[in-house]
Amino acid sequence: MKRILWLPLVLAAVMFGCKHDIPQIPIDPNAPISEVDDCDPNTIYFQQQVLPIFQSSCAMPGCHDQATAEDGIVLDSYSSIMSSGEVVPGDLSDGDVYENITDSDPDDIMPPPPNDPLTSEQIQLIAGWIEQGAQNNSCESLSCDTINVAFSTHIEPFFVNSCEGCHSGPNPNAGLTLVTYDQIAGIALDGSLWNSVNGTGGFTLMPYNGTPLSDCKLVMLEKWIQNGAPND
Ligand code: HEC
Repeated sequence: MKRILWLPLVLAAVMFGCKHDIPQIPIDPNAPISEVDDCDPNTIYFQQQVLPIFQSSCAMPGCHDQATAEDGIVLDSYSSIMSSGEVVPGDLSDGDVYENITDSDPDDIMPPPPNDPLTSEQIQLIAGWIEQGAQNNSCESLSCDTINVAFSTHIEPFFVNSCEGCHSGPNPNAGLTLVTYDQIAGIALDGSLWNSVNGTGGFTLMPYNGTPLSDCKLVMLEKWIQNGAPND
C-alpha cells in the first residue's frame, strides 16, 4: 500500500521537478544575422568568434561538413548547427556539443583523435555563446585591426580559429600545417596565403567550405603581408 502511494509522487517529482525550471529560449535556426557596430566586450559574437571554430574544427572534410554529415550531423552554418539539436540555447548540460568538446574519454571527445582537442579558450567561447542564448549575432570589427596589425594579437588567433582545425595534426588538409609562426609566415611570403583567402591564382578559396573572410580581415592580412609578415 505504502509503495503504491509514493510511486506516483516520485514520478511526478521526476517529471515536473527537473526540466521545467530550465528557461527555454525559442530559437529560429534561420534567424537573420543581427549585426552591431559597437562590439560589446562581454558579448560573444557567433559570426566572428564561434562559427570559424565550428567550420575549421567540426565541419572539416570527412566529418561534419555537408558532404560527409557524420552521424547525420552538419555543423557548418548557424542554421545547420541549430537544426542539429546539439545546441540548446542557454543550457550547457542539454545539448551534446559542450559535452563532446570537453569529454575526457578519447572515444567520445570531439574533434576525435588524432585531431587536437579544442583549446580552453575555444571551449569557453562556445560555452559562453550557448549560455548567452546561442544567437546568430555579429560584430564585424571584432578582433580585426587594420591599423596596428600584430602577429601575436591578430594573425595568430585568426589562424587558430579559422585555419588550424584543418591544417594541423598528423594528416593536415593539402599536407599543409599552419600552426607555427614559420609555417604561417611561409605561406604569407610565397603568395599562397593571399591567393587562398581570395580564391585567386588557381587556389581553392579558404577557409574551405567556410564563410569567406570579411573585407576587414582581408585588409588586416594584406597589411601584415605587405609589412613583411613580422613576428610581432
Ligand atoms: C574545413 C577545412 C579547411 C579550413 C578551415 C581551411 N582549409 Fe586550407 N585547405 C583545405 C583543403 C581540403 C585544401 C585542399 C584544397 C584543394 O586542393 O582544392 C586546402 C588547401 C589550402 C592551401 C593550398 C595548399 C597547397 O599547397 O595547394 C592553402 C594555402 C590553405 N589551404 C590555406 C588556408 C588558410 C589560410 C586557412 C584559414 C583562413 C585555411 N586554409 C582553412 C581545408 C581547409
